Order: sequence, then structure tokens, then C-alpha cells
Amino acid sequence: MGFASFFEKKMKGGYDRVKMGENIVKTEFDYEKHKDDPRILDRFASWYLRSARELKALPIKMFFDNVVFFNKGGVGDDEGSEFLGVSAITLYRQEQLQVQLVLAPANFLIPEHTHPNVDSYETFIGGPIHFEKDGKPIIPKENIFALEDGTCSVFLRSSKVPSSTPHGGPVGDSPASFLSIQHWKNGVKPTSVHEDWAEDGAETAAAKTEWEKEQIKTV
Ligand SMILES: [Fe+2]
Repeated sequence: MGFASFFEKKMKGGYDRVKMGENIVKTEFDYEKHKDDPRILDRFASWYLRSARELKALPIKMFFDNVVFFNKGGVGDDEGSEFLGVSAITLYRQEQLQVQLVLAPANFLIPEHTHPNVDSYETFIGGPIHFEKDGKPIIPKENIFALEDGTCSVFLRSSKVPSSTPHGGPVGDSPASFLSIQHWKNGVKPTSVHEDWAEDGAETAAAKTEWEKEQIKTV
């Protein structure tokens, strides 16, 4: 079976969907359909992760200003920031929705924090990152490891992190990466999650809404 027959591209306003087997997966999220849906982030995360699993491809909607370094002092600043060595690339942005691929060095500790204007799904990609939510590990440390073929035991496992939920955690003894699938709220334009960051409020987060309390399985 040739590549062309395997991936049948359908023209509709451009290459906006691909067919794989019986599944047609849109390569752009239907923002108009879901823009007023209080569960827009659940819909977006499901769509993004479904594409990752079924097409083995991450949807890309790339912007020119797509790379950020969390150390605000910039290149060569080795004392000015607690985030030295952490960086991210914005893989996808559409209106108030965004996906960042975050890279963190070995033995880095992400301090407990919240993002006051961002709901997200944090998604494991590779490496030993030990996310904690409300002070508890999302996945027990011993369950995160390299499988025999070298892939990550928790690849694409995902956890909902509402804006009020304190989270953070340590990276193990090799570098790690994860996806942050985000919905920016309150009219704040998407930039990078480290720009919408609060540590003071992490322990005094507001009462959670019903949506925030629900644990939705996205994959
Ligand atoms: Fe965060």
C-alpha cells in the first residue's frame, strides 16, 4: 500500500484533514464549533491526543515567535533565574488554545505553582518527570521508566490541571519533556505558561468549580 492511498488527503479549504483507515482526523481543531463550550479544553485535548495516538503525529500550527526560554536573563545568564535550562516550543496555537512542548533539564525542580488564567492538560512525553498535583504524584515514581524498546512507559498519559490547581514536581536524573495543552481564559492572550505564573497563590487557591473537580479521562 502506497503512502498516497494510506493517507488520503481531502481538500476542503486546504489540507485540513487526513484519512487513516476508517478514521478521518482533522488537522485543525473546530474552534468555531466549541468556542462557547465550557468543556472546550476537554474537547481540544481529546482531539489533540487522539491525533497523537492514531496518526502518530502532533498537529502543528506554528508561529514565528515559537520558542521561549524560561530563564528571563537570556543566553549566558547562569545565576539570574531559577528556570535556567527550561525551554518550550509552541507547537499549536488557535485563538485561546495552545500546546507547548516543554523541555526541562535533569534534576530540575518545578516549584509548586498555579497559572491563574490557564487551564491545562499536562501530558507525559519522555524522560523521568514526576508531576505532582495538589502535592500528590500524578503517577507513582516507579511507574515512569523506559520500556524495553526505549519508549516511555507513560507516553501521552495526561492529567487535567485547572487554573486553581497547584502543581509542579521534580525531574529525575535525565532530562524530560512534556506537552502542556492549554486554554487561556479571562481574555488573556496565549503566550507561555511561565508568563502566567503564581507561586504565592498556590496554597490559597480559590474554591474549585464543578468542571475543575471532575476528572475526565481524555484518552
Ligand atoms: Fe504549570
